Amino acid sequence: MILAHNYQPGEIQDLADFQGDSLGLSIEAAKSNAEVIVFCGVHFMAETAAILSPQKTVLLPEPHAGCPMADMITAEQLRVVKEHHPGAVVVCYVNSSAEVKAESDYCCTSANAVEVVNSLGKDKEIIFVPDQYLGQFVASRTGRALILWPGYCPTHVMITEDDIKDAKVKHPGAIVLAHPECTEPVKRLSDQLLSTSQMIKFAVKSAAKEFIVATEKGIIHSLKKQRPDAEFYPATQRAVCPNMKKITLDKIIASLENMQPQVTVPEEIRLKAKRAVDRMVEILPSK
Ligand code: 13P
Ligand code: SF4
Repeated sequence: MILAHNYQPGEIQDLADFQGDSLGLSIEAAKSNAEVIVFCGVHFMAETAAILSPQKTVLLPEPHAGCPMADMITAEQLRVVKEHHPGAVVVCYVNSSAEVKAESDYCCTSANAVEVVNSLGKDKEIIFVPDQYLGQFVASRTGRALILWPGYCPTHVMITEDDIKDAKVKHPGAIVLAHPECTEPVKRLSDQLLSTSQMIKFAVKSAAKEFIVATEKGIIHSLKKQRPDAEFYPATQRAVCPNMKKITLDKIIASLENMQPQVTVPEEIRLKAKRAVDRMVEILPSK
């Protein structure tokens, strides 16, 4: 089964058996009967599939397709934060390593982070890692004071307040769709804060004909396919995730011919991480 994230190059989105956001891909990877999953995305996504389904062969066609945000916190650093806040519940964004997930109580994606935090008792202190901007979004939607880690997505922080202001001047009346990984000033200027698949669903249902898209540009391929009658303007041409673009058609073919490179997780870490990831796939988003 070939799974592709919404930021993948267009030709890879087109050949995938399933395309989606981090949550959709994890659910699909868990429920598929396929013996082999080719994960067209970045390392933590393939690793999450391996955590959920150790019996499957999980291939990541380019082993160096990582996520800089996921690398911004180590398990050791998280253990230190936990020592400072004994008794706190740890919620980690899926953009994190298996070792960090193993130190966490709950995992979430941008699609269900609010629902995950809302499911926790009001008396609980909550540590949220590693994305400070997703964390700020969750804190404002839930009214909970979260202990944040200063991680961020280098691609989403490239989108500036001025980019949105300029785009609005050029396209008055366009709806601004932004990812929660964007900075607060960008989010304040946006109409909808959504995960990548939620953006596609929103555009499909909306009667609007123009959208400004504040997330990685690759998603525009899918948006145009789903709504050929509408215009989608990237907030900036700079919003490109170089790691997502490391996957190519040739690398996919080579991975299937060689059954390499495989992504696996040591069993001890996997079992600990699975607790948090199982909770992530069980708590469904409201949108
Ligand atoms: P979603 O597709 O889950 O919204 O995530 C965005 C992202 O940055 C994935 O790395
Ligand atoms: Fe990581 Fe950002 Fe790329 Fe997503 S877009 S994989 S968060 S660097």
